[in-house]
Amino acid sequence: MHRIVVLNGPNLNLLGTREPGIYGALSLSDIERRLRERAASRADLAFHQSNHEGDLVGWIQEAGLAGAGVILNAGAYTHTSVALRDAISGSGAAVIEVHLSNVHAREDFRHRSLIAPVARGVIAGFGAMSYDLALEALLEGDRA
Ligand code: DQA
Repeated sequence: MHRIVVLNGPNLNLLGTREPGIYGALSLSDIERRLRERAASRADLAFHQSNHEGDLVGWIQEAGLAGAGVILNAGAYTHTSVALRDAISGSGAAVIEVHLSNVHAREDFRHRSLIAPVARGVIAGFGAMSYDLALEALLEGDRA
């Protein structure tokens, strides 16, 4: 069974009420529920959210050392965190970077990702479906 860890960074606990015109109406629990339904018996999912950078660093390190795949929406840390980038490159975690919104169609400061160069790939702009696509990419990638 594939082990996949889904990590969500700062302010993603507010989904559902946070700028719904940008991030949609689903809560993080809704996203977790639909992802678990999709994964069903194909993957063993762990799902976490934190507003603290160090928590995310720890979970990435654990996933990398355990050989688990990671779906990472690092929120604003995407654009600022050398620590998250180093956790990915240092642990060898197979990470798919995801965003609900199309960050490239937004403010300039969201166009740069410190994580993308050490990620397997990036999926942005498809709302909750970004997570679904990342799950498929990880499962398919393992088969290749
Ligand atoms: C986000 C995009 C980031 O720029 C922003 O800081 C977020 C959410 C997204 O999912 O679209 O918190 O990662």
